[in-house]
Amino acid sequence: MLTLATAQAELLAKTKASQEIASDRAEVLNSGLAANLEMPHPVFIDRGEGPYVYDADDNRYIDTSVGFGLHMLGHVHPVVEQAIQARVPKGWMFGIHSTSQLKLANLVQEGSPCAERVVFCNTGSEATMYAFRAARGYSGRDKIALFDGFYHGAHDYGMWVADPASPRTTPSALPMGHGIPGVLKELTLLLPYRDSHAFDLIRQHKDELALVFVEGVQSSNPQPEVGEFLRELEAVCRASGVLFGVDEVITGFRVAYGGAQERFSINPDLATYGKVIGGGLPVGAITGRAEVMDVFTGLAADRGVFSGGTFSGNPLTMEAGAAVLKHLRDHPEIYVELERRTQRLADAVNAHCESLQLPVQMKHVGSMFHMFFQRETIMSSRDIHGRELSAQKAFYLHCLNAGVLVPGTQRAFLSAAHDDQVVDELIEVFTASFDAVNTEGLFSSAQ
Ligand SMILES: Cc1ncc(COP(=O)(O)O)c(C=O)c1O
Repeated sequence: MLTLATAQAELLAKTKASQEIASDRAEVLNSGLAANLEMPHPVFIDRGEGPYVYDADDNRYIDTSVGFGLHMLGHVHPVVEQAIQARVPKGWMFGIHSTSQLKLANLVQEGSPCAERVVFCNTGSEATMYAFRAARGYSGRDKIALFDGFYHGAHDYGMWVADPASPRTTPSALPMGHGIPGVLKELTLLLPYRDSHAFDLIRQHKDELALVFVEGVQSSNPQPEVGEFLRELEAVCRASGVLFGVDEVITGFRVAYGGAQERFSINPDLATYGKVIGGGLPVGAITGRAEVMDVFTGLAADRGVFSGGTFSGNPLTMEAGAAVLKHLRDHPEIYVELERRTQRLADAVNAHCESLQLPVQMKHVGSMFHMFFQRETIMSSRDIHGRELSAQKAFYLHCLNAGVLVPGTQRAFLSAAHDDQVVDELIEVFTASFDAVNTEGLFSSAQ
């Protein structure tokens, strides 16, 4: 059985070009993105192909990050490649509205149950920032309610985490890092996730709340049985006269063609998109009921808000995104297959870990999956204890050495290019890596 030290030595020996890049980069680039991924060992990707990426030394990895969840069809899918190539000779950026926007807008509108209107921007962060602004403009109120464990992007209004010392049912917010103005805390109401106390807090604060905003599925905590909570949340928002918004940046066109809205039968006032809808190019979108979306009609509009952006709705992104959505719309079997394959992967990993009594559980919603290094039930991020950090780090390093890239953030995905053979290989590498970590005694609580 391979030890961690041997796996580390093997990785070092075969990733020399990546190590050179790592040391050259340190002179110029800050490492934000690499740190985000929390990779167990620095590798730099040179190219992608279907379910695989290849690093600077031409090592091949099965990629379970797929661009942080955005490549539904895998890397360099021919329909996307062709769409981009067809746009390039005609020009890829005008600023002024182009002929390409309506194609993607129509597809997003068709696939987003709440979308009477669509506004494009360039990232998921921008989309949630605009959704907050639209809700504030529309309602004339300033406070936004967010849930313990959320991630809605990098803008100051969303950079809050629950103070672990605060009561579980009434969490208080701490800024995520420095640089977030303390005064903004007053504009955020933090709610407990999958906990009915959240409903009481919404009722209590309804006159101050512009929006209650929730991820379709929390990327930090993908629990398949979240539907009932979301439906009750929607009902409480309606009864309280507060706008209900769903962040579909990850879930949109991933957990179903109609995203979390379709999968869980919810109908928000606003929804935000990113990732999948850009076909791999930078994108964001806000959709919603026409009455609320009217605030985007211009500053002169009733309760109008400012929106804009040099690259918003640029034709290259629009064409790439439209190609992907059209392909997904025309091939509904992709979702059926993704569901089946991810279920097979999770069943195999969970059965293996149970048979060895390892403190591991794989959770998945559709094709997004997440491995938790604990046995205890997880209701919210409060229940993720992080006691198995050494085992976790060793596991991801073994996986990488065996040719499977899983970001240490544990947010992982299958794409349509991850066929049954690739899933077999994933099962083999995951189970062998757990065995290696277990044999070396790196699980502190294994029996
Ligand atoms: C649910 C959710 N909202 C918003 C964002 C931010 O999107 P972007 O990274 O495109 O700014 C993310 C990114 O992962 C996300 O998962």
